[in-house]
Amino acid sequence: MTPAVFLTILCFGVALAAPVLDSSLDAEWQQWKKKYEKSYSQEEEVWKRAVWEKNMQMIRTHNGEDGQGKHGFTVEMNAFGDMTGEEYRTFLTDIPVPAAVKVKSVQNPLLNDLPKSEDWTKKGFVTPVRKQGQCGSCWAFAAIGAIEGQMFWRTGNLTTLSVQNLLDCSKPQGNNGCVRGDAYSAYQYVLHNGGLEAEETYPYEAKDGPCRYNPNNSRAYITEVVSLPAHEDYLLVAVSMIGPVAAAIDASHDSFRFYRGGIYHEPNCSSYLTNHAVLVVGYGFEGNETDGNNYWLIKNSWGEEWGMKGYMKIAKDQNNHCAIASYASFPNIF
Ligand SMILES: *[C@@H]1O[C@H](CO)[C@@H](O)[C@H](O)[C@H]1NC(C)=O
Ligand SMILES: *[C@@H]1O[C@H](CO)[C@@H](O)[C@H](O)[C@H]1NC(C)=O
Ligand SMILES: *[C@@H]1O[C@H](CO)[C@@H](O)[C@H](O)[C@H]1NC(C)=O
Ligand SMILES: *[C@@H]1O[C@H](CO)[C@@H](O)[C@H](O)[C@H]1NC(C)=O
Repeated sequence: MTPAVFLTILCFGVALAAPVLDSSLDAEWQQWKKKYEKSYSQEEEVWKRAVWEKNMQMIRTHNGEDGQGKHGFTVEMNAFGDMTGEEYRTFLTDIPVPAAVKVKSVQNPLLNDLPKSEDWTKKGFVTPVRKQGQCGSCWAFAAIGAIEGQMFWRTGNLTTLSVQNLLDCSKPQGNNGCVRGDAYSAYQYVLHNGGLEAEETYPYEAKDGPCRYNPNNSRAYITEVVSLPAHEDYLLVAVSMIGPVAAAIDASHDSFRFYRGGIYHEPNCSSYLTNHAVLVVGYGFEGNETDGNNYWLIKNSWGEEWGMKGYMKIAKDQNNHCAIASYASFPNIF
């Protein structure tokens, strides 16, 4: 077959194939549209519905008859329901690898002496889950979370800091607002700028804007930037001894997008490619400690409707699952 013939057949296929919709899902579709305030043109609706149904089917297959989910975690329909896998991956941000990385060596970590679990959300280090919206600002949310934690440690005050300040002002450090960025370069900005505003004085807009930093409103600062070697042992030492740590991960899989609860484990996850940034706020295990069902507790920036009230448990000690330890970093505040 010549390429031309092949192409013709493909075009035909696309033009003729009107999706067959499952009318038993009509009510659920209407509810979903209402919940997420979706409205489509008539033509658009047919295709969005078809994508949604396909996602619905995938979710049901994953959760199975008992609704308990395969591989120890469950998924659910959410705001991403009308996106194809490709559209979802476009929504994610590429996390560039930080150019100059200062590695702070952790000397002979006595891993066995560290607590078996930690949850900084229970100790006042973590602000409420927020929502990034249609802006690739995950890296700024991850960085802000790490700074908020260290400021709390230092001052005893938990203050929601300004993501917009990082988005607008860390371009000289190599970040690019809603397009892309990384936590390491965000800390570099705060370090060299000598301050950072709070959400209160420099609120989030979910879009790019000019830098409007006002030193009179500065509420945070940092004195050192630390990037960890790419190994879960270092992440463990940092999260147990320092507090919340920013990390980049591979979030490109449908199982991640629709995650509901349990310990996330995706066989197709990369241990080095990253496309999203999150805040590691703790770790622990499920069941008996000796079972090895270990997890990292991560805070996402997709609102409380996603996952476990905005959080996820992701497999720990499984060969750097989803690259969780590949680009972990935090600021020091002395
Ligand atoms: C904590 O925040 C309050 C209110 O903004 C402020 O009055 C107080 O001085 C802060 N405490 C410290 C230790 O920074
Ligand atoms: C900061 O405060 C000083 C003293 O009140 C004032 O003169 C200055 O204009 C303020 N700067 C900005 C950018 O608002
Ligand atoms: C993993 O990737 C392969 C090849 O792309 C695909 O066939 C398979 O369904 C994927 N598995 C999961 C669990 O997503
Ligand atoms: C956990 O497993 C160990 C070893 O198998 C066992 O001795 C212990 O009783 C178990 N603990 C619980 C709480 O089940």
